[in-house]
This record gives sequence, structure tokens and C-alpha cells, in this order.
Amino acid sequence: MNLEQLEAPIPDGAPHGVWSINTDRLSDGEFAVAGVRVSDIAKEFPTPRYVLDADDARFRARAWKEAMDHAFADLAGAHVYYAGKAFLSKAFARWMYEEGLHIDTASEGELRTALAGGVPGDFCGLHGNNKSRAEIELALEQNVAHIVIDSLAELEFVNRVAEDLKKIAPVYLRLTTGVHAGGHEFIATAHEDQKFGLSVSTRVSHQAIARAAELSNVDLIGLHSHIGSQISATEGFAQAAQVIFAERVWAHEQGIEISEIDLGGGYGIRYTADDDVPPNPREFARILADVVRKHVSESGLPAPLISIEPGRSIVASSTLMLYTVGTVKDVAIDSGLRTYVSVDGGMSDNIRPALYEADYTAAIVSRDSDASRTRARVVGKHCESGDIVVRNVALPSDVKAGDLLAVPATGAYGRAMASNYNMLPRPGVVAVENGTLKELIRSETINDLLSLDQD
Ligand code: LLP
Repeated sequence: MNLEQLEAPIPDGAPHGVWSINTDRLSDGEFAVAGVRVSDIAKEFPTPRYVLDADDARFRARAWKEAMDHAFADLAGAHVYYAGKAFLSKAFARWMYEEGLHIDTASEGELRTALAGGVPGDFCGLHGNNKSRAEIELALEQNVAHIVIDSLAELEFVNRVAEDLKKIAPVYLRLTTGVHAGGHEFIATAHEDQKFGLSVSTRVSHQAIARAAELSNVDLIGLHSHIGSQISATEGFAQAAQVIFAERVWAHEQGIEISEIDLGGGYGIRYTADDDVPPNPREFARILADVVRKHVSESGLPAPLISIEPGRSIVASSTLMLYTVGTVKDVAIDSGLRTYVSVDGGMSDNIRPALYEADYTAAIVSRDSDASRTRARVVGKHCESGDIVVRNVALPSDVKAGDLLAVPATGAYGRAMASNYNMLPRPGVVAVENGTLKELIRSETINDLLSLDQD
């Protein structure tokens, strides 16, 4: 394992995290993923299409696993839960399991996908701020490793469901640490005025810990913190961990022992060359382990088993979204002209630019061009002016209908948040591994959509 590879420039000088590790520009200018030309991929699996470099995702999963195993070897060890909300399919869940990861799920559908992929129940965790009885029952029947409790009401509810099933529910309590980190407001989760978790500052956390210890059908094994998403600074993670450890010490003083701590996901990646280079898994793991070591030496408590839940930092960079260019149009703007390049997808396959003003980059990948660069905006085919795929990108000025255009780093929260807006079928996901194509999720058809319509 060469973690430095994660920083290696690939391809065309593009930095770590923008294109997958097996994306190459061939001598004739066309891009290939894991040895397969994008034009050959598009022939077999027409655009729009998510193209996933399987080896890249496995590599990043392994990087997290090895980094955490290494950093926590002298403590009580660590588990890496892949956050399935970023992207999940049966085969993908199995690959993560094969790499030694657990799977974090946040709904019945995600849990069932992981199970159907062959992941044992006790390698799964269940999240959610409003779990249904069916979700809790499934989790208990499948003996999941833990259910993460999000509210006092849910604590009582899970206890009741477990009692009905004559089970003891292994639970974590999700605590809101007050640490505000992360990109857009919509993806920061640990500040006070939002829906997740049990607040530390108002001591609801203490109430929950004490109540969990009283209830007979829950087993309070852990505390959980997730501070937000797309975070490249390490301080927030360390601060939140310290708050959680103080809660663990408080619990101990009440005679309640907590043996596991989950520090959540949210590790940032690079979407464009302008983004900061995030710490690699080894650096993140070392920083987390240092905080745990300090806590253990100061409190005298036994080292807890640590979990983390990365999603984006495992799957985002593995995938490029492959489109075909359609209409190209020059539009006059204050400072000159902007070339609007329309592709055969848009906000239905990647809502992130519209929802979070997320920036991406793009390249024409079916050919090389000596033409000068033009200021371009890549847009979709939906009936909204906010249907932007890439807000600003320099593309060759001879960009034309029929070119293949790729947007890298679309593996996380792309397919997972896709919609059928304008009755567009959601694109499928094809994985490439060592020159071989494997369809993970087929594209929807119009007939799939019509078959839902009961007329
Ligand atoms: N654990 C919990 C409890 C979470 O809520 C999340 C993300 C993760 C782990 C994984 O976070 P990651 O490592 O993937 O950043 N849809 C948004 C992000 C929302 C994430 C919600 N929870 C986006 O497209 O950026």
C-alpha cells in the first residue's frame, strides 16, 4: 500500500481526489478508466452514466482501514464503517466488507442492500433521526452491531421494540457536541439549531445516558458524534472527540461504563484543483488516536473501541459522470462571452451544485484538442436555470455535440441523491476493474417510470 499515491498527480497534472487513480489520458488524447476507453464504455453503456473505478474505491477503503488499524493498534482497535448513504449497491457493499470495513446504514433500504450484498448484520450499524418500527425490527432481527439513538423519544421506542422482540438492543447515543464544522450549512450537523442528536450543552446527553442505563432492553455500549461533511481541517474532529470523552467520564462517574466511541464521517476530498488538499487517512487517524490516548491517560479509563464513518472520502473520487455533449451556445455576459455546454443529464444525476453550490470540474474525454480554452459552464437538460453541472470550467473552444464530457469526483451523493425530475430515468452505475466492465446498477428506463404510474 502506497498512501503517497493518494497525493500523486493523476492524470494531466490533476491532483489527488479529482480523478480516480486509474484514470489515464491515452496518447491520442482520449481518457480511459482502468484500461477501458471512455468511448468503449459509452458504446456498451450509453451516457449519461456513472463510471466507477472499482480499484480506486477499494484502495481508499483499504487506506482508511490500514490507517485506523495502525493508529489504534496500541489502544483498543478501530472499526471503519463505510457510510452507505454516499453510494450503495449490493456489490459495492460486499467490496467494502471484503476490504475489512463495516457498513453504516441510515434506512431500511440501505440496510437491506448491505445484507443482500452479503454483509453480515453484525457488520452493519443503523442510523436515522426518525427510524420506523420496521427499521428497528430489521436491525434487531439481523443483530446489527449498534443502533444509533437520536432522541430521548427514540430511546424509549427502541427499548419497547426490543422488548416486544425479546431482544437487547445494542445502542450508541448520538450527541450534539456544538462543534460547527464543514462546508455548507445543510451538511454541518453538530451545531445546536438542527435536527440531529442529543445536546451536550443542555445536558440532554446526561438524561439520555442515565435513562439508557436504566432501561432493561437496551445496552448502552457507545457514544457517537458526527460534526458534518466535507471537512478538511482536523481541529473540529479533535474538539468533538474531547467533548464526547468528557461525557464518557461523566457516565463513568455515575457508574455507567461506555466502551465504544464513534467519531462519525465527514472527511473532506478535493473536487477541483482549487480545493485544499485534505489530510490523508493516515494523518486523520493519527490525530484521532492522539486525542484518544490523551483521554485515556487523563481519565484512567480503559481505551474505547473507536469507529469512524467515512463515505465521501472512499467513494467520491472513484467515479466520473460520463455525459454526451449536446447543444453548445455562446451567451453574452458582462465580461464577454460564456459558452454554455449542455449535456444529456444534469441536476437529476447530481443535485449537489444546485443544493450546495458545490463546485466540480469537467473535461472533454473523448479526444484531445489544440483549440484555445473558452470560459464554459456545463449545464443539464432540465427546465431550470439552476440546472448547473459545472459552474466554471475552461474547455476547448471547439467543444461540440457528440463529444464525451466527464465530471470527476461524482461517486458520493450523486447516484445516491439522483431524482427523476422531468421524468428522466436515473442513470446506471458501471464499474471498471482491470479492463472489465461490470454493471452495478442498471439505468432506469422510461418504462420503469411508467410502470409506477397507476393511471
Ligand atoms: N455518518 C453520519 C452520521 C452522517 O450523517 C454522514 C453523512 C456520514 C457519516 C458520512 O459523511 P461523509 O464522510 O460522506 O461526508 N449529501 C451531502 C452530505 C450529507 C451527508 C449526510 N451525512 C453532500 O452531498 O455533500
